[in-house]
Amino acid sequence: MPISTVLAQATANTCREAGERLRRGELVAFPTETVYGLGGNATDSHAVAAIFEAKGRPSFNPLIVHVADPIAAEAYVEFTEHARDLAHAFWPGPLTLVLPKRASGGLSDLISAGLDTVAIRVPGHPVALDILKAAGCPIAAPSANLSGRISPTCAAHVVDGLNRRVHMIVDGGPCAVGLESTVLSLIDDRPIILRPGAVTAEQISACLGLPVEQAVNLSPSVDEETPLHSPGMLSSHYAPDALMRLNATDVRDGEVLLGFGEVQDAVLNLSPSGDLKEAAVNMFAMLRLLDSRGVGTIAVSPIPDQGLGCAINDRLRRAAAPRP
Ligand code: TXA
Ligand code: MG
Repeated sequence: MPISTVLAQATANTCREAGERLRRGELVAFPTETVYGLGGNATDSHAVAAIFEAKGRPSFNPLIVHVADPIAAEAYVEFTEHARDLAHAFWPGPLTLVLPKRASGGLSDLISAGLDTVAIRVPGHPVALDILKAAGCPIAAPSANLSGRISPTCAAHVVDGLNRRVHMIVDGGPCAVGLESTVLSLIDDRPIILRPGAVTAEQISACLGLPVEQAVNLSPSVDEETPLHSPGMLSSHYAPDALMRLNATDVRDGEVLLGFGEVQDAVLNLSPSGDLKEAAVNMFAMLRLLDSRGVGTIAVSPIPDQGLGCAINDRLRRAAAPRP
């Protein structure tokens, strides 16, 4: 059923309104530092089910719970020393921690899709924090795009995908990070990166004084849109309509080049100076822009596979993966 969508600039009043709407079970898309989120009250199963419906997500995969501060997080998950150290170092910010769920927290079972763990984070964006405080409840929020499509880094992208599917969209300008948070499992106190993001393995390892493992294609979180436990599959995600060719050092017939660094013939360049932060911010928006021009194949220049480059390459590989 289409619903009417209010699009509002972020102000103290509209953040309060967004919080009230969320508390009473409505869906509100709002900015975070990573990408825009499609929020719903994480204690209300109707609201959580409505998130999946609005995204057209085919299955009930686990969602990230957003809270306003680390103290609030401790009501929903069991913290360890390591979790506290990381929360202290990186929250508010683009790090999601997967921890054992507290039964007493009152989260909807749909959040964790039958797992006994919960992914949780404190987003580093003043608008998100104002909305979370106004809501006074934990907010489940996947990226605010239709299932399998490119994540939104500004309010116009959210309108494109979710107009008439959510009650309110709060516009807080473009996202500063541009790709989704790092998802780190701390189950059994063993740090494993389930999804690379802006907080890198090196930073986590330095904070904990421990080596950090990378789950490559084996974790449930690698594929967000199909059922859990589908190991070894790198399925399509973040997909533009155009085909993608990665690590391109030339431009072939029917292709346009999305460049990185000093390259010639690039129609758009993620970062002419070769800055990974700038590339992350631009990536999803540039893929959308090229897609809107109806190009056949987007060829992408090589991106160094280090630091933030790991997360960028992860998203590009998913965008380039074979489509269902
Ligand atoms: O930056 C972000 O994380 C954005 C903004 C809106 O906060 N949110 C986001 O949510 O990207 P979503 O639903 O698109 O991605 C959630 C990720 C998936 O990879 C999912 O598999 C993983 O977190 N995840 C959630 N709960 C989990 C759990 N209990 N165990 C393992 N992975 C989990
Ligand atoms: Mg997503």
